Amino acid sequence: MKLIVTETYEAMSRAAYGVIGSLVSKKKDAVLGLATGSTPLGLYRLMAEDRTVSYRDVKTVNLDEYAGLSAAHSQSYAYFMRENLFRYLDILPQNTHIPNGVAPDPAEECARYDGLLDRLPRDLQLLGIGSNGHIAFNEPGTPFDARTHIVTLAESTVRDNSRLFDRIEDVPKQAFTMGLADIVRAKTVVLLANGRNKAEAVRRLIEEDADPALPASALKQHEDLYVILDREAASLLHETA
Ligand code: F6R
Repeated sequence: MKLIVTETYEAMSRAAYGVIGSLVSKKKDAVLGLATGSTPLGLYRLMAEDRTVSYRDVKTVNLDEYAGLSAAHSQSYAYFMRENLFRYLDILPQNTHIPNGVAPDPAEECARYDGLLDRLPRDLQLLGIGSNGHIAFNEPGTPFDARTHIVTLAESTVRDNSRLFDRIEDVPKQAFTMGLADIVRAKTVVLLANGRNKAEAVRRLIEEDADPALPASALKQHEDLYVILDREAASLLHETA
């Protein structure tokens, strides 16, 4: 594991861009696994601003999508990706993949996504982490060998995500998520965390053994894992505190 502790959110975003930007500069047809949420927004801004890098041959595969929200819905993750990243890049829309939140047959949609993940091995997977240690929407207790599935979101996740909705009742209770088995199949994994509310999950990830109670700990077996933190997210680590 490469643990990088930076002073600020901006520095964390720049460190992450150092890894992703150099991959895409070297490998024009890279396959990137992408995440939504607040954490990667600074990185996405840097990707959008750097006009020297082309994404014409890049493909992307996102981690998750709320069940019941179509790609046109302003709270969907498909919408988030378009608004915060894709519209600034020369990436082709047909090369960007995300689960279909309104698929008529959810089991079929999960199987379709697994097929996609088999066909498109990711060079890099970007991750945030939930305050309860979830990655994608793999909540505590998810088996490490899970593939794409529908999850019922933990109460803490609904609460954390309600800041982006008008009312907590509007937060969808279920989501499609890439499973832990596929997340760890990416060649390189970059996990970002900033802010004090991530510090305990980060401490357990770094200092404790792998355990499904902390889904992010599935990453401990990964051979090319970057954990990039700001000072607050690192504040409970014993060795860097
Ligand atoms: C988003 C995702 C989630 C978030 C996590 C942290 O696609 O898969 O696991 O990475 O909930 O969210 P933020 O970054 O909003 O704190």
